[in-house]
Amino acid sequence: MPSDKVFVTRLIPAEGIQLIEQNAQTEVWPERGPPPRDVLLDKVKGVGGILSMLSDKIDAEVMDAAGPDLKVISNYAVGIDNIDVAEASSRGIVVGNTPGVLTETTADVAWALILGGARRVGEAHDYIRKGKWIQWEPMELLGLDVFDKTLGVIGMGAIGQATARRAKGFNMKVIYYDHKSRPELGESSGAEMVSFEEVLTQSDFLSLNCPLTDVTRGLIGAKELAMMKDTAILVNTARGPVVDSGALYKALKEGTIAYAALDVTDPEPINMDNPLLELDNCLMIPHIGSASVATRTKMSMMAATNLLEGLKGNVPPNCVNPQVRS
Ligand code: DGY
Repeated sequence: MPSDKVFVTRLIPAEGIQLIEQNAQTEVWPERGPPPRDVLLDKVKGVGGILSMLSDKIDAEVMDAAGPDLKVISNYAVGIDNIDVAEASSRGIVVGNTPGVLTETTADVAWALILGGARRVGEAHDYIRKGKWIQWEPMELLGLDVFDKTLGVIGMGAIGQATARRAKGFNMKVIYYDHKSRPELGESSGAEMVSFEEVLTQSDFLSLNCPLTDVTRGLIGAKELAMMKDTAILVNTARGPVVDSGALYKALKEGTIAYAALDVTDPEPINMDNPLLELDNCLMIPHIGSASVATRTKMSMMAATNLLEGLKGNVPPNCVNPQVRS
């Protein structure tokens, strides 16, 4: 019987769970939503590893509740903004994540939002359901073209680059802003690095692909939205708090920008009384960027492997703080 205890905060694809169960005493939270905070604090007592979701806040309190045996936190996401990594590092706890496997899948969803926003797919679907489709109409549901336009990307990491690559098929100009230079892109990418102001003012479609950090929290607020074209579409597949949602509501309501298409909101899930839900020019989907069968299965194997390697005292293959074991 394996001796290490682990807590998995949600059901993930069976491949990952089986691997963990073969190697550790495993408890999986069986319900759809996250474990309530008091339950999480109780379930982690005495564990060597936690496999967490992006919706679980893993901070000093959770690490204290787990106790001195906690060696590894494996996040079932590439984003790690839900984890206090500095705190984990100071305690010698390694933190794993799932980069790479979800890059293309998430870029596909960014494009679903670009196209869905431009051509008003959500509204058009509702239009039929509400019985408004009386005949082919010359003036109904007119949208915006995507081809030949300018795609701006903020955060040109792997997902930003994959989103930008797809723009070639639409003959788009691609510009991007990143806080660091991206020599790996080279000239052949056809993407041009511009200033923050330029990416805001020149983009027809502005895709947010940056991680949520102290620097990017509230990056797009009233001032930034006012700098965008009034025909622009804002696409967010990054994290909700990168955008000030009150300012976004105002900008959409007043026509400062044309449309927003969001895979992520602040908070998640969005409150049902959030006024963004009343707007026709705001398309929202429930944080499904990585949600394909194949990708979620790969994520489960990757997160399981990170967890098990961390339990053994090794540096997980995908680790954001490998220095704690060097
Ligand atoms: C991530 O991995 O950070 C995505 O937001 C969900 O897969």
